[in-house]
Amino acid sequence: MRSANLWVLRRVARFLMQVIKAELRFVKIACYRVELEWKDRRKMIKKMFIYMSLPLTMLAQTAQLQDNTDQPLLTVKQIMSAIITPPTSTIWGAYQLQSDAQWQEVENAALTVIAAGNLLAMGGAGEGEQKTATEADWQTFNRQMISAARQVITAVQLRDEAALSNAGNDALYPPCESCHQVYQTR
Ligand code: HEC
Repeated sequence: MRSANLWVLRRVARFLMQVIKAELRFVKIACYRVELEWKDRRKMIKKMFIYMSLPLTMLAQTAQLQDNTDQPLLTVKQIMSAIITPPTSTIWGAYQLQSDAQWQEVENAALTVIAAGNLLAMGGAGEGEQKTATEADWQTFNRQMISAARQVITAVQLRDEAALSNAGNDALYPPCESCHQVYQTR
């Protein structure tokens, strides 16, 4: 009688264990499904985020492409080598000018120096170059360079080669030197 009871108990226990195992498996599968769903959802959210931020990044990029013309766009170095150097070699190299076209070339060169001076008054796009341009020395040398270029234009209008040579050597060259002495090595 006792052993029969035990046998029944054992059968019941085994049956219960099987039921619990089956339930557990079911729960595990359910959990796995939820996890998968979350992974998918996270992926979706990521994608949505990327698509939503796309127009914003494009906007930021076009904003960067649009140059802000209130600010200097060239460094001082670029202004020197691209805008100042070519016309000054025209002015300093002017010799035995004959045709109006030759004189006109010198006048255009002087106008280019004035344009560069106009830019230099603002300073350059390089680090700290706008702040440097607020210094009195900088503005003085720059104004001297501009007024020297005006003297060159006057000499051109008079077709006076001696006056042109004086303007080039005695007026235009010194401010270049003075400004470089103070600022070029900084
Ligand atoms: C208001 C100040 C100022 C004046 C005026 C000026 N310069 Fe300069 N220049 C500079 C500074 C500052 C540098 C150094 C830039 C750098 O290396 O970042 C420089 C550099 C140069 C350079 C070297 C560029 C390079 O590629 O390294 C040349 C060439 C030059 N200047 C020519 C001239 C000539 C010619 C004149 C006169 C007609 C002149 N500059 C007048 C400030 C000036």
